[in-house]
Amino acid sequence: MTSVTSLFAPVDADLCQLTENLKQLVGARHPILYAAAEHLFGAGGKRLRPAIVLLISKATSAADITPRHRRLAEITEMIHTASLVHDDVVDESELRRGVPTVHSSFGNRVAVLAGDFLFAQSSWYLANLDNLEVVKLLSQVIMDLAEGEIQQGLNRFDTGLTLEAYLEKSYYKTASLIANSAKAAGVLSDSSSETCRNLYSYGRHIGLAFQIVDDLLDFTGSADALGKPAGSDLRSGNLTAPALYALEEKPYLEVLIEREFAQEGDLKQALALIEDSKGLERSRELATHHAQLAVQHISSLPPSESRQALIQLAEYVLSRSH
Ligand code: IPE
Ligand code: IPE
Ligand code: MG
Ligand code: MG
Repeated sequence: MTSVTSLFAPVDADLCQLTENLKQLVGARHPILYAAAEHLFGAGGKRLRPAIVLLISKATSAADITPRHRRLAEITEMIHTASLVHDDVVDESELRRGVPTVHSSFGNRVAVLAGDFLFAQSSWYLANLDNLEVVKLLSQVIMDLAEGEIQQGLNRFDTGLTLEAYLEKSYYKTASLIANSAKAAGVLSDSSSETCRNLYSYGRHIGLAFQIVDDLLDFTGSADALGKPAGSDLRSGNLTAPALYALEEKPYLEVLIEREFAQEGDLKQALALIEDSKGLERSRELATHHAQLAVQHISSLPPSESRQALIQLAEYVLSRSH
């Protein structure tokens, strides 16, 4: 946690304020939502997305971060959290941010409604920013998140999935939010359209690198370190970069996946085949490639402490352990 904390130093106070605001914004309406908000917006999340929004706001605005930038950062984290509440229902995950998921504490019905409520509330605050371009950018994200989950759901155990299709799904599920909120921060700073395009590309590549590393950590990390279950992607048929690369070298992996690990020892054998392949290494190279592209897109911002943090964030994404 230390590396990410020091990385966010230029916006540290802003992030503390954000956490408090989120608990209040979400929690005021209903005791169950209050419980969910307390538990979700407690200390567990890395707050990567609002940190990126705030750092970009600082790096692009003439004066200081404005209240609208702050609200955008809150909306971004709200949308992210809503997507996690729903994702955990779909993935049947028991643990998130080191604590039991909303659905495992309160049931699926409440989790679906709480996720919906968070999306709806984020739209309300979004509309109140009174900036049509920003409304369009972030509404697109909410559509993309659903599209990503649907694509993932439809492609389970499909060994014909291409790397391109995997990256497209990862854009919808993860990179779209980071890209569009990064661009929206530039829009709120009245940045030029070229700068806004670069901010979008920075977010897109950071997001892809982040998801590829997340998919790697699902193979290499532990539930303790991650604060969420590990080793579940392959089991549930979600074929991510390491598995897709391994399929190119290990034909028997296809057999195991196609029969959905029906026989005893199948999953263990599949994991061993992936570990024995170049899949993990090649996935790491792919993540590195995207992190480097991200950095290239913000090189034209004027030098500042915040720009420096955004550059280092690309390294952090690659080295993170949770
Ligand atoms: C988890 O995101 C979902 C992915 C896109 C992989 P984070 O790892 O940023 O989750 P929190 O916010 O820190 O819990
Ligand atoms: C990312 O996908 C979640 C969303 C962006 C909704 P994952 O399913 O890989 O996320 P984790 O691993 O549950 O955090
Ligand atoms: Mg999940
Ligand atoms: Mg994952």
